[in-house]
Amino acid sequence: MHKFPSVLESIQDLNKSQIHGLVALARKFKGYAKDWQGLPVPFIKTPIIATSFLENSTRTKHSFAIAIEKMGATYIDFNAEKSSLKKGESLEQTLLTLYAQGVDLCIIRTSVSHQLAQFKENPPLKIINGGDGTHQHPTQALLDFFTMVEAGLVPEETTLAIIGDLYHSRVGSSLIDLLPQFGIKVILCGPKECLPKEVPAGIEMTENRDEAIEKASALYLLRIQKERHQGVEAAYYDTYPKNYGVNMNLLKKMNKPLPIFHPGPANIGLEISEDLIKSDLYLGHLQVRNSIFMRMAIIQAILQNKDKTIGIPLNDGPRTFTF
Ligand code: CP
Repeated sequence: MHKFPSVLESIQDLNKSQIHGLVALARKFKGYAKDWQGLPVPFIKTPIIATSFLENSTRTKHSFAIAIEKMGATYIDFNAEKSSLKKGESLEQTLLTLYAQGVDLCIIRTSVSHQLAQFKENPPLKIINGGDGTHQHPTQALLDFFTMVEAGLVPEETTLAIIGDLYHSRVGSSLIDLLPQFGIKVILCGPKECLPKEVPAGIEMTENRDEAIEKASALYLLRIQKERHQGVEAAYYDTYPKNYGVNMNLLKKMNKPLPIFHPGPANIGLEISEDLIKSDLYLGHLQVRNSIFMRMAIIQAILQNKDKTIGIPLNDGPRTFTF
């Protein structure tokens, strides 16, 4: 079996058996979660784990923080805004500084796509991508897959319509990389400005919401990612709720009582109606709950990979200075 990567940047860093292993481990952690008693602490030494969120987050940051605490690790909430990054220090020097302080793993969110790829060859410490620009959000896709399986969806029998701003969505990219590997058929839907320019073979695309819903056995709704539109107002904004929003009335009219996934944050009244988000069809809150167990699983896997190439030599004591 491949070693678990020390920098989990993308779903493409994992193979199928590692993903299966994470789902099984997340399920095991969830089994311990009733009162959090009897949770096996898998570490010989207490790891130190930091989050560094250079872009806003509610779900990802806090579920990692809770996962870290529940595993008995030491949690450092690295405040990028108040850090020496603001004095011009590079991200690499920042991470090496954390490593020298004893931090084993850092979960990083950044608005810069592919910013973490530079660390794959010589990792300054172990890194989990908490979302980078429009590129990838691997832990979100993994927890979504865990939730789909847990909710009883049979992957080979599932057709998932992902409706929304896929062009700017890192969650969409990670789902596209992950789900078809397990036999889930994916249909991408949105106005043409929201659809990716290229997709892997086998992925269907349509601008027609009702056609996508008609073919689907589950829906995954994404918000319009306005913060990535560089201040340019798209022509479809005003008509989006009518043409691409999903509400209870629509699903009832189409006789499609489908499970609804959403990574959050949701813009109620735009891509999803209030009645739908409050209904039993909506699994967004279960995704959030499951995020803790999947992230515990990912933390355990990455810390246990025994990679010896991490960081820089930290030789304590006197030394000789020569060229
Ligand atoms: N799903 C997700 O990444 O949400 P946050 O931006 O709140 O972390």
